[in-house]
Amino acid sequence: MNGLDIKIKGVLTDKYTEKDDVPTKGCMCLQTYLVEPHEVWYKKHRVTLINKRSMKDTIKIHETAFVTATYRASNEALSKDKYSTYWKNPKTDKWIKNYVEKVSLKEPFTHCLRNRFFYETIKQLIDNKEIEVLINFGCGFSMYPFLFGKDLINIEIDQKDIINYKRKEVKQLIKEGKLPDREIHYIAKDFNLEKDELEDEIKSIVKGKPSFVLLEGVIFFLSKESTNELIELIGRIQAPGSYFGSVSFLDSIEKTDCFKRLISFFEEEVILNSKFEYLTLPTSYYQSLPSYELIEHEDYVSLSKEFSPTDIVEDGDLILNENMYLLRRKMHYP
Ligand SMILES: C[S@@+](CC[C@H](N)C(=O)[O-])C[C@H]1O[C@@H](n2cnc3c(N)ncnc32)[C@H](O)[C@@H]1O
Repeated sequence: MNGLDIKIKGVLTDKYTEKDDVPTKGCMCLQTYLVEPHEVWYKKHRVTLINKRSMKDTIKIHETAFVTATYRASNEALSKDKYSTYWKNPKTDKWIKNYVEKVSLKEPFTHCLRNRFFYETIKQLIDNKEIEVLINFGCGFSMYPFLFGKDLINIEIDQKDIINYKRKEVKQLIKEGKLPDREIHYIAKDFNLEKDELEDEIKSIVKGKPSFVLLEGVIFFLSKESTNELIELIGRIQAPGSYFGSVSFLDSIEKTDCFKRLISFFEEEVILNSKFEYLTLPTSYYQSLPSYELIEHEDYVSLSKEFSPTDIVEDGDLILNENMYLLRRKMHYP
């Protein structure tokens, strides 16, 4: 080992490369330099080997959108996403193979269940004429706009790289007759940074119409503060009686081996040697939202019973059990 990156709370504070020929095995000691006698306490320090694998084999957080799309393509009959296959590519296939072997073989299956749940829920609300707008926060390469009729107004929001790529590819696929033409408003924004402009832009499209907001596979990557602000924003853009679908992990997932494998995998292969800050939420978080009532709560066990009775999953160390929440915007909200 001749290179050392020192980070505090994931922020690089020093970088050092040893030029001399020093032994690559031995002990590591921590020390500080000060003239006066002093005492130092070290808290929660950890040492991670810098990954020598090529950067081209790793993926960034926003590229997980390719991963979830590819999962849905693994069983189109179950996911009901017949267009997910357009996002498949060799790099993602290779990454998924590595990921499912190291974390959970059930990930493609459970993500098909997740899409199926929201597909059926949104379809029913459209059929009942309860919603007119679908707003997908962190849409990635979800294809809901093309799975429903042309009267639905769609707002797709994600980071710039995803939105620019999706907009370009979708335009081409529509031109080639591979996708039906739909009303889609693309918004490129980072939820952590640009919420004020985001609210005005969405309101100018929604114009008070009843909507379905989807926050699927996103909360895990956001901070608690950002999530609170985002959900407050969602409350302000949704008309009373509108619906909000959200996905998150319960705090108890942290105790499972599967989740521990997921975090190790992310730290070794996605964010490379930084501490991965993720968010889990208790169900009480949703129950206590002042502007919403919780009307349905599912997980992968209940969804597998409903949509795949011949392959029911069990909660435990083999699956990353996510929770799907369906909420309705209250009619009267303080
Ligand atoms: C795992 S993917 C899920 C994509 C899609 N919802 C699905 O279920 O297939 C997570 C998505 O969240 C988006 N995302 C994460 N953090 C974000 C942020 N701060 N601002 C905007 N989008 C973000 C990523 O770019 C990515 O598209």
